[in-house]
Amino acid sequence: MASPKTSTAAYSGKTPAAAEAPPVAIAPARPSKLPFARRVVEAIARRFRWLAARLDRRLAPLAARSGFLASLYYAFFSKALWREHRAVLAGRMRYEIDTANPRETSTMLRRNTHRLEKGILSRPRRDVFALDYIGETVDAYQRALKSAGQCGDGGCSQDELKWAHDVLNRYFEITAKHPKVDPLRKRFRALTDPVAEIQGTFVPYQRDLSRAPSVSYDDLFELARRRRSVRWFLQKPVPRETIDRAIIVAGQSPSACNRQPFQFRVFDDPELVPKVAELPLGTRGFSQNFPAIVVVIGRLRSYFSERDRHLIYIDASLAVMGFVYAAESQGLSTCCINWPDIDEREQKIAEMLKLEPDERAIMFIAVGYPDPEGLVAYSGKKPLPVLRRYNFE
Ligand SMILES: Cc1cc2nc3c(=O)[nH]c(=O)nc-3n(C[C@H](O)[C@H](O)[C@H](O)COP(=O)(O)O)c2cc1C
Repeated sequence: MASPKTSTAAYSGKTPAAAEAPPVAIAPARPSKLPFARRVVEAIARRFRWLAARLDRRLAPLAARSGFLASLYYAFFSKALWREHRAVLAGRMRYEIDTANPRETSTMLRRNTHRLEKGILSRPRRDVFALDYIGETVDAYQRALKSAGQCGDGGCSQDELKWAHDVLNRYFEITAKHPKVDPLRKRFRALTDPVAEIQGTFVPYQRDLSRAPSVSYDDLFELARRRRSVRWFLQKPVPRETIDRAIIVAGQSPSACNRQPFQFRVFDDPELVPKVAELPLGTRGFSQNFPAIVVVIGRLRSYFSERDRHLIYIDASLAVMGFVYAAESQGLSTCCINWPDIDEREQKIAEMLKLEPDERAIMFIAVGYPDPEGLVAYSGKKPLPVLRRYNFE
């Protein structure tokens, strides 16, 4: 088994330091202040890492030949993916728990409400649809109703309940008689509506397209061009309201089945910010001047199956772009920061942010008012003909 250090280095795409170093003699040439026993242990460890890296260079090309061999490689030789594997499984287990007893949200209800909306708005609409999941949706709605009593204390949000209620209500209004649907319709209608006082009806609707959007293409392009990754900030606090407003825009982003499997964890306490900011690798030399830092967390509990495990990265990144533009539009600047999967850093972040096993850091975002004297990178962008291909061009 490769040592964790060897595996994580391979995973981050870097050449393991040990792979570059030749086997080291136990007694160093230079005199050292370290006790002899420790020097021996370190030298053996270095030698072990070097051997593991050499073995890895032989094994990896073999393992890459098939999924089965790759699985053997990651099961018995490299620990590089163990955290990912555990997080995905922990997410699946948590999904089951949250489905049975929704706290804060019911992912199943969100997903199925979204699917019902697609059925309602489809053209032409079928007389009867959603037969394979309408039963579990009504069950999930009933469980969410029960949790509503704990609202604010971990229960499903009122808006989520209202959305589910209104869509289910519309579904049962428009769906023709069917032996599978009829008892569910009866059961749903017997339930009390706990969110009747919330105004409006949260169902598919026609947007008002009579007015052009207030943001022109030129405005948007200007904002996109003005935004650059900023690493030098004025030392003044960022009002929470502006950050919240940026998160509200981020929350409007598309996400697969509208599950929104992410959280923005904001740090603005001057004592905490530098501690959080030095967790990732890519902030050396400028992390000490961040007025605030956001850690974007993906939650694998949003998925019942491994097949969806990449969506935390996709959905969170789309939301981050909304956040970044909304911050920029309020005079703030940002710098996205990579979160590499490295053992010791993963342990630190899990401890500091009290992450649960299915929660993965996606990226960090430094936020603040830009220092007008600070330089930004030119960051040349690829031209249109390089970025775009129509059809099979
Ligand atoms: C996912 C991601 C990770 C990044 N990680 C870092 C980082 O660790 N350190 C850093 O200084 N910049 C980081 N950046 C900023 C990029 O270097 C920057 O976006 C890129 O060079 C283009 O420059 P621009 O943002 O000014 O257009 C990251 C950006 C993204 C999107």
